[in-house]
Amino acid sequence: MQKNLLIVGVGPGSPQYLTCVAMDAIKKSKYIVGYKYTLDTVESIIDKTRQEVYHITMRNQESIYQHVYNKMKDREYCTVPFTGDANFSESEVVDRLLEIFGDNNVEIIPGISSIQVASSKSMIPLDKSYILSFHISDDIEKKKKELINAIMDKKSVILLPRPWPDDPSRNFMQSDIAKFLKLHGIDTSILKVWVFEYLSKYNKETIFRGKAIDLEGMNFNPLSVMVIDQNKRHSYRDFDSSETRHLK
Ligand SMILES: C[S@@+](CC[C@H](N)C(=O)[O-])C[C@H]1O[C@@H](n2cnc3c(N)ncnc32)[C@H](O)[C@@H]1O
Repeated sequence: MQKNLLIVGVGPGSPQYLTCVAMDAIKKSKYIVGYKYTLDTVESIIDKTRQEVYHITMRNQESIYQHVYNKMKDREYCTVPFTGDANFSESEVVDRLLEIFGDNNVEIIPGISSIQVASSKSMIPLDKSYILSFHISDDIEKKKKELINAIMDKKSVILLPRPWPDDPSRNFMQSDIAKFLKLHGIDTSILKVWVFEYLSKYNKETIFRGKAIDLEGMNFNPLSVMVIDQNKRHSYRDFDSSETRHLK
């Protein structure tokens, strides 16, 4: 029996960032299983008269995945939409879905990540940045060291902070990050930062731009991306022309 799962990146906040491939996947699925935030992004293309929609939370997701999987008939499709790109900072759930459905029955459709939108807004290229997600359940001490090293190496950093509403001692939000950097010898009074909340969400998006030290004591929504801006612009005109020719 073939039970097909489509893991689909949507948003990260606006239906305008939905790709045609993502829309087709959702339309051909009998079951749509997602968190409220992602379901809201795709609401306008769901037809509740022929599709079954399941709203999941962290607490009930396992039982709903099992329920839908058991209910699915041969050659039916289920879509699980993920915020932004399912290939970034979603593996704790994606890995479980691969386990339930089996790799051969799963297609992952990439989306536009919140870090891509933050990269565009701050005009800092992804390939010149160190990308980090603290939005994980696992221990983050090693990642904190990576953060310090990247800053010392003069790289820009695009990161997802860690909100932990049930246990604020495990938070690693912008204010915690700013204090952590200062404690580890970074001069936060000159370190340029951006914080983006609700990226691409109509009428809700906010942009903060300042120095890392300013973030101490500030509260941002969990739905936020932080950028440490150490970018130096270099166009092809800065390089030796024979070298540039060689690259072509
Ligand atoms: C589990 S991670 C998922 C990341 C997602 N897969 C992506 O590609 O953007 C959830 C975190 O992503 C970030 N995020 C997702 N959508 C966002 C948005 N519209 N604006 C700002 N941050 C967002 C926030 O840091 C949020 O806590």
